[in-house]
Amino acid sequence: IQFTPAKSLCRSTNPSSDYLTLTNPDPVLIFVIFFSFVGFSYCRQKSRFPRGFVGNSSMEELKISSRPSICFRPINPSDLERLEQIHRDIFPIRYESEFFQNVVNGGDILSWAAVDRSRPDGLSDELIGFVTAKIGPAKETEISDLIRYNSCKGEETLVYILTLGVVESYRKRGIAKLLIKEVIKYASSIPVCRGVYLHVIAHNSPAIRLYKRMSFRCVRRLHGFYIINGQHFDSFLFVYFINGSRSPCSPFDLVVFVLNYMRSGIKSVASRLTMKHEEKGLKWIKCKDITRCLLPTQTKRNLASERVSSGYDYV
Ligand code: ACO
Repeated sequence: IQFTPAKSLCRSTNPSSDYLTLTNPDPVLIFVIFFSFVGFSYCRQKSRFPRGFVGNSSMEELKISSRPSICFRPINPSDLERLEQIHRDIFPIRYESEFFQNVVNGGDILSWAAVDRSRPDGLSDELIGFVTAKIGPAKETEISDLIRYNSCKGEETLVYILTLGVVESYRKRGIAKLLIKEVIKYASSIPVCRGVYLHVIAHNSPAIRLYKRMSFRCVRRLHGFYIINGQHFDSFLFVYFINGSRSPCSPFDLVVFVLNYMRSGIKSVASRLTMKHEEKGLKWIKCKDITRCLLPTQTKRNLASERVSSGYDYV
């Protein structure tokens, strides 16, 4: 917008120029423009907060046919760019390219892509949602105490959901639910697999509602689990028990559960104190933006601290 001392708001008469020219500006008009600009800047500022986790996406609005035809397939190398873009748009933390390479090349990460076959050619195979997961020994996880073991069956495993996302225009259509179902179906097909679990940031209500609706159980609240831009955020740990595993319900199990709950409470108080102590010693770090990149070997938890180690590789 150019301001020039002429009469009214009009298009520039210069055909080669596409600028809107504001001439002899009316004070009311200036007032309106000024406050529109302030309002716009404010909205942009707000959207910088890690709201990706609660479902705000800067992604383009996709045109959806009245009858989308959603299909699921594994993620492959041609999805690389799109996968990176969606992660960038909906998560407040950055993932290393090594993580994406691992997903698209089917390394040790499992993945499911959602696509809408009713989209026009060229887009009918483009990702509109995804879930990535990893399988590992149950005994090495932080929920090993909640699993019922059966030594004759071999080493028990658990599936950990790393990332789940659906582009904004396709939300509230049950796509995430179907993606999670795919993971549960896969996990249930492995006789030694005892469950599916995940972490979710405590203020992510849409995701929390989804997991609860799908019968995941919230087994723990982890204080200060995430550090995003220098701020601490709690997370919930959700588990879906399968193949004869279950959450505790016998009297003995309940006692073990209560003891573990108390232990994790004490740990989290201790870790909070440690955190405060560390913060005191490291105040100077706060002047830097410490949004970090994640390696596949780093965990959401590692973002928060390295205090508890499980031997699992989370992102
Ligand atoms: N018509 C109307 N509403 C519907 C329909 C339908 N056909 N199908 C489902 N819904 C409703 C559900 O009831 C649910 O409502 P509720 O939130 O009021 O309970 C809502 O739509 C969402 O359910 P889904 O459609 O299954 O989920 P969606 O595809 O919208 O994806 C997700 C949910 C993944 C949380 C999405 O919001 C997202 O991508 N958010 C940003 C990234 C994110 O937060 N990811 C999870 C982080 S945790 C992790 O990665 C381990």
